[in-house]
Amino acid sequence: MSVRRILRMGHPDLRRTCDPVAEADFGSPGLHALVDDLVDTMHASEGLGLAAAQIGVPQRVAVIEIQPGNARYPGAVPTGRLILVNPEVTVLDPTPQCYWEGCLSVPGLRGEVARPCHIAVDYYGPDGTPRHLEPEGFLATVFQHEIDHLDGTLFIDRVTDTTRLAFLDEYREYHATASSKPT
Ligand code: NI
Repeated sequence: MSVRRILRMGHPDLRRTCDPVAEADFGSPGLHALVDDLVDTMHASEGLGLAAAQIGVPQRVAVIEIQPGNARYPGAVPTGRLILVNPEVTVLDPTPQCYWEGCLSVPGLRGEVARPCHIAVDYYGPDGTPRHLEPEGFLATVFQHEIDHLDGTLFIDRVTDTTRLAFLDEYREYHATASSKPT
C-alpha cells in the first residue's frame, strides 16, 4: 500500500483508453494492491474518486468514496467506499444536470459540466462480484467523471462554456454556493 504520484493534465498517460481487467485477474494480489494504492492516494489528496489511469495504470479500475465533511466538496452526500472494476454506464434519464467539477489531475481548477442526471452502472468488485447501482444527482456526476478517466477524458473536455471555468479561489469567491464552498 502506498500513496502514488497523481499524473497531471498534459501527461499523455491520462489520455489512453484503459484495458478491461481480465477475468483471471479478479481477486488477484496485483488487483488488490492497485485498489489499495488508489484508496491511499485518494485519501492523501482528499479526493472523492480516483481512477487507475491517474496513477499511470491503464486498467478499467476506479474508486469512489465521499467521506462526511470532505473539504474539497463540502456539500456532497457521503457514500461508502465503492470500488469499480470494468464499469459500464447506461443512461436512465438524459436530462442534463450541471455541477462544478474538479479533478486531482487538474489541480486548482473548477469547471461546470452538464451530464445526464440519472444513470445505471454495472461493474464488478475486485473479487469479481457483479454489482449494480443507479446513482442520481451529484453521485451520478462523480461516477461519470471517474469512468471518463478510463477512456482518457478529463472534465475540462466537457466544459462547454469556458466562462464557467475558474481557478479555485475565484470559484470560491464568485461561483460556489454556501453549501458547496470548498475550504
Ligand atoms: Ni478526475
